[in-house]
Amino acid sequence: MKILVIGKSGQLAQALANLSTVNVEIICLGREQIDILDKSSLLNTIKEQNIDAVINACAYTAVDLAEKEPEQAYKINTLAVKNLAEVCKELSLHFVHISTDFVFNGLKSSPYLPNDDINPLSVYGKTKAEAEQLLTEIIPNSSCIIRTSWVYSTYGNNFVKSMVRLMAEKPELGIISDQIGSPTYAKGLAQVSLTAALEKVSGIQHWTDAGVASWYDFAVAIQELAIEKGLLVKAIPIKPIKTISYPTPATRPSYSVLDKSSSILAFPNLPIIHWRKQLSSMLDELQNEKEETQS
Ligand SMILES: NC(=O)c1ccc[n+]([C@@H]2O[C@H](COP(=O)([O-])OP(=O)(O)OC[C@H]3O[C@@H](n4cnc5c(N)ncnc54)[C@H](OP(=O)(O)O)[C@@H]3O)[C@@H](O)[C@H]2O)c1
Repeated sequence: MKILVIGKSGQLAQALANLSTVNVEIICLGREQIDILDKSSLLNTIKEQNIDAVINACAYTAVDLAEKEPEQAYKINTLAVKNLAEVCKELSLHFVHISTDFVFNGLKSSPYLPNDDINPLSVYGKTKAEAEQLLTEIIPNSSCIIRTSWVYSTYGNNFVKSMVRLMAEKPELGIISDQIGSPTYAKGLAQVSLTAALEKVSGIQHWTDAGVASWYDFAVAIQELAIEKGLLVKAIPIKPIKTISYPTPATRPSYSVLDKSSSILAFPNLPIIHWRKQLSSMLDELQNEKEETQS
């Protein structure tokens, strides 16, 4: 099997590129190799690859900047997804697309089900929600939408890496304690995306690591584990703060836990691991990378 990943430098694309696979070739194409906004060149590039399925790991993910650049966010998160869906339909390729917990408004107090009403609060959430709608219209039976949340990895910039850096630099930190969600290690998300492509899983699936946390809980765990693993030398005070005291251009859902019951059935061989265990694995990898660069 040959799987094409759209995107090269992002967290998910790099996690996919680094999966160990047997009898599966994963090709990642970044913006230098593929133009997701030009449908005819997209069609030609994908045709040339002679592939079995497409995973879209590309997105405009700057949630706050999207409020200032709605057209750019719309192009990448909606129009490019429409192009990809139409090309996949024309070439009869299964299409796996990644969406977000930010399609929900966060007013629910129990985990969101795949078919719950969506009502995004931000430009980013709206552009991702529109893409979901288009996918279900263009290729409902041969596409899989995987909604996820709070993605982190050893690649690029993310909350975990920022926390480890800030905890080494600052005397104390204030972290939001009234937004609740589920952290997700990109390695597990990559595995589920690849499985969806190989096994042609369709429909809307929810995938995050197990358990829930506030950003504050997540930060406290990052500090504890980073000290244990030697990534930090000492603890600094971490204070819980309210969203209202840390205004951001984009409004985020206060509760965005995703119900994963249907994914347990769709991906029976993929265990859903607790976020703290996944965080520990990621910090081990980060420490190994640090040791390798130092030696
Ligand atoms: N990160 C999260 O917390 C989170 C949460 C929920 C859902 N998701 C979803 O999960 C998926 C993967 O996220 P991620 O964290 O891996 O994202 P990421 O690290 O920000 O990577 C996004 C990728 O999209 C590429 N991209 C953006 N604009 C492009 C363009 N015009 N042409 C070509 N490539 C372009 C970027 O390329 P460059 O590096 O070259 O700019 C980058 O490789 C996305 O669909 C995202 O919406 C993420």
